Amino acid sequence: MKKRLHIGVLYSRVRVEEKWIFGALEKRGVDYERLDDRKIKFDLDRPEAWLKFDAVLERSISYSRGLNTMYILNAWGTPTINTAKVAEACGNKLITSTSLAQAGVPQPRNMIAFTPESAIEAIEQMGYPVVLKPVVGSWGRLLAKINDRDAAEALLEHKTVLGSYQHSIFYIQEFIKKPGRDIRAVVVGDKVVTAIYRKSEHWITNTARGGEGEICLITPEIEELCLKATQAVGGGVLAVDLIEDDHRGLLVNEINHTMEFHTLQPTTNVNIGELIVDYSIQLAREKKEAGS
Ligand SMILES: Nc1ncnc2c1ncn2[C@@H]1O[C@H](COP(=O)(O)OP(=O)(O)O)[C@@H](O)[C@H]1O
Ligand SMILES: [Mg+2]
Repeated sequence: MKKRLHIGVLYSRVRVEEKWIFGALEKRGVDYERLDDRKIKFDLDRPEAWLKFDAVLERSISYSRGLNTMYILNAWGTPTINTAKVAEACGNKLITSTSLAQAGVPQPRNMIAFTPESAIEAIEQMGYPVVLKPVVGSWGRLLAKINDRDAAEALLEHKTVLGSYQHSIFYIQEFIKKPGRDIRAVVVGDKVVTAIYRKSEHWITNTARGGEGEICLITPEIEELCLKATQAVGGGVLAVDLIEDDHRGLLVNEINHTMEFHTLQPTTNVNIGELIVDYSIQLAREKKEAGS
């Protein structure tokens, strides 16, 4: 008789998304384990304790805990959603941009510099306004729109003096005059399953910052672009953020590998929690069958 699948869910905090995911796992009758990323430990010479998992779904709020756990598990042959490689490419905006550029996916123009002096040069070369972002970050935190040289100089100095070394990797992006919204589309494997507009009076449209969701029709253009973007970073369960540019059309702004969907799921009535669980079950089953 075939044994039941055993799936781990790595988490930092049980948010509403994790409640939906746990509920979907229970509904599917899967044997699952909650793995608190503050409590887990690994003995690198003894993978045995971890080999019981047919797959591990990563829902960490911490980029580094999630990423490092995925590295270890993938090295031991455990399938993860998403893989370490995908997590690394999505969690770091610089790697996302280089991956998208390599795959020819349209995105806002980006420049990188490592000192305030070279950053000012890059900013002036690009032309105001520009957006400065931490390479690792989320929820719209520490994003800065810079409209002139005075602001640029002040911000670069503050970042250099007060910030950790990561804040001296200056990721500079052209500001896109979008129509008061951006688009968040969810991709599960090779399907774009749903999308919303995130509308806001503020240029930062994250729902964590008050952006409101509204259903967005998945056009063939959105579908094609999202699939190309997710393939560029390695594929999996991903949320793609698109910005509409007057001249160039849709541009990919970023790709999230541990998406929140507290607004998206009730807005679209698409059960993202169940889709993520079904995708995880499929990977777990493939692994189990390959091993038996
Ligand atoms: N270059 C840009 N031009 C215009 N709006 C932007 C630009 N970059 C980001 N935004 C807005 O800010 C939001 C947050 O930016 P994002 O790069 O996704 O950072 P985070 O990872 O913190 O969510 C985006 O959803 C978008 O609405
Ligand atoms: Mg974002």
